[in-house]
Amino acid sequence: MAANLEKAESIRAMKGRERIAALTAYDYPMARILDEAGIPLLLVGDSLGMVVLGHPDTTLVTMENMEHHVRAVARAKTKALVVGDLPYHCCLTAELAVENARRLIAAGAEAVKAEGGAVLAPVVKNIVDSGIPFLGHIGMLPQSAAAEGGYRIKGKSPAEELRLLQDARALVEAGAFGIVLELVVSHVAEEITRAIPIPTIGIGAGNGCDGEILVTLDLFGLSSYIPKHVKKHWPFGEQMRAAAAEWKAGVTASRKEP
Ligand code: KIV
Repeated sequence: MAANLEKAESIRAMKGRERIAALTAYDYPMARILDEAGIPLLLVGDSLGMVVLGHPDTTLVTMENMEHHVRAVARAKTKALVVGDLPYHCCLTAELAVENARRLIAAGAEAVKAEGGAVLAPVVKNIVDSGIPFLGHIGMLPQSAAAEGGYRIKGKSPAEELRLLQDARALVEAGAFGIVLELVVSHVAEEITRAIPIPTIGIGAGNGCDGEILVTLDLFGLSSYIPKHVKKHWPFGEQMRAAAAEWKAGVTASRKEP
C-alpha cells in the first residue's frame, strides 16, 4: 500500500515540473512496451470495452473484465503507475466502491479511477481513506454519454464552467492525486489547471493541462475510429494488415513438394 501511495505521489509531484504523458494499457505486451518507452502512468481504462472487446460503449464492462485486464498489465511489473478504472455502476454506494476498488488493487492496480465530480466526492474520500490512491475523471463522462444523448464537449456555458471548477475542487478536497479532464473546452481546462494543486491530465481538452492521456489503440491506429482529438497517430494497423498479408502470401506460395 505504501509503495502505491509513493508512486501516486510521484505523479502528483510532476505538476509544474514535467508534463505527464499517460496512455491506456490493457495487456502484458503493451504495458511492457509503454513502460520501456518511459510512460509514467498506465490506465487500464474501461475504454477496453470498446477498443478491445468490441462493445458499442463502456457501460457493458464488468468488474471481472477489469480484473482480468488489470492482472495482465500488472504482470509487466511496470515502473509506471498502473491505474484501474472502476466500471459503470461500480460506485453506486461508498461501500460498493471501496469493495470494488480493493478488488482492482488485489488484481494488481496501484490506484483507481472513477468518473464523476462533486457527487462522487464522499465515495472518493472513502476510497482514499482506505489507503487507495484515486484519480478523478470529469468533463465528458463516457459511462454517461448514452444517457446524455452522445459525446458532448463540456464547459461551453458559464454554468458548466462553474460546475466543472466545483467538481475539480471537490475531488481535490476528497483526496484525489490527479484529475482527467475529458473533452473540456481548452480555456476552461486551463482555468481548472491553474486553480487546483493536483495535476490535470487532458484528453481532447487542449494543451493547457498538466498532462495528456490517449487511448493507445487510437494513437497506434488500431481502433476502428480515430477521434478528432488524436492529432497524430501511427498507422500500425495498416502495417499489421500488410504484414499478415505478406506472411500469408509466403505460406501459400511455399507448397511442399510431395
Ligand atoms: O477508459 C479510458 O480509457 C479513459 C480515458 C479515455 C481517460 O477513461
